Amino acid sequence: MNDAYARFCAELPKAELHLHIEGTLSPQQRLHLARRNGLTVRHGSIAELEAARNFGAAGTPQEDLKEMLDYYYEGIEVLRTERDFFDITYDYLRQCQAENIRYAEISFDPQAHTARGLPFAAVIDGLHNGLVAGEAAFGVRARLVMCINRDRSVESAFEALRAAAAYREWIAGVGLDSIEQGNPPLKFKAVFDRARAQGYRLTAHCDVDQQDSVRHIWQCIDELGVDRIDHGINCIEDVALVSALRARRTCLTACPTWRPRDAGPRRVDRMRTMFDLGLRVTMNSDDPGVLASGSLGHLMPHAGAAGSFTPAELARFSIHAFEGAWLPSAERDAYVREVTDYLRSAERGLQAGQAAGAS
Ligand code: HPA
Ligand code: ZN
Repeated sequence: MNDAYARFCAELPKAELHLHIEGTLSPQQRLHLARRNGLTVRHGSIAELEAARNFGAAGTPQEDLKEMLDYYYEGIEVLRTERDFFDITYDYLRQCQAENIRYAEISFDPQAHTARGLPFAAVIDGLHNGLVAGEAAFGVRARLVMCINRDRSVESAFEALRAAAAYREWIAGVGLDSIEQGNPPLKFKAVFDRARAQGYRLTAHCDVDQQDSVRHIWQCIDELGVDRIDHGINCIEDVALVSALRARRTCLTACPTWRPRDAGPRRVDRMRTMFDLGLRVTMNSDDPGVLASGSLGHLMPHAGAAGSFTPAELARFSIHAFEGAWLPSAERDAYVREVTDYLRSAERGLQAGQAAGAS
């Protein structure tokens, strides 16, 4: 990857649609919050946390996901107060500004917090106030996506929806995450029906290479009626599914992330296939504090180069993300124009650079 390519990625106006705010917690932040909250944690040093973060040894994709989530859920136990939620949100938006991420849809896992005894209000007030303050300070627009933990009960999901009702206008959409094996989308059909009736936009994880990934994607579009799918890259295994996703213009938030044990970006070949098939695929960071790939600004030039994506193709990823964003169409269009204007001026710059180099 050359400097011009890296600069193009850094300055490209970007949108992040698949990011778990609890997954932004870096080892440093985990220790800082543990200390601030007076907690004794199992992994009490950076070295211990780095060792624990070396998940994905030799397991199946299902076991790998579970190992990653074990590390993730253990980490979020350091979140104890409204201020903690405010801080991680505000810090993330500061990071977005530094990387020219102009817009972010930020997922959170309320049940993982209320199950530990935190009030729903502390979680949502911290997140919302962090967004408002971060928007004002950093000029980054953001909205919240409330994820249902699919390994918990349907009743628990309904409880989260009930708790969210008082904050309806603070939450753009509802998602579905956590352990997929044994927890198909269909399990939550009634929950998603209610969420749709309440006006939420809908998304659901169909994680990579899980048991029945393809069947789960079908369930998401046919039964849950989602607007988006998080990951969803196994769709390329089914020609009819690709056609259906293309016809519906479903946004698929793929993540070419890598773990500490990986040499570099994963899944880029399949993202290339999705892209070339004309699917509305986007590039996302998922859990930047947990994975080694970090945030979107860090990941994009590596994944872009690994997939041989040209600058114009990377701009197309950004356009897909803004088109898939849960914003009024005028705002989406304005962001798309920002990307096309940027691409045009960057291409002029690249041409001028090449002409100067040739003369
Ligand atoms: N998959 C499913 N659930 C999650 C993830 C993920 O990658 N990260 C946080 N919750
Ligand atoms: Zn995710």
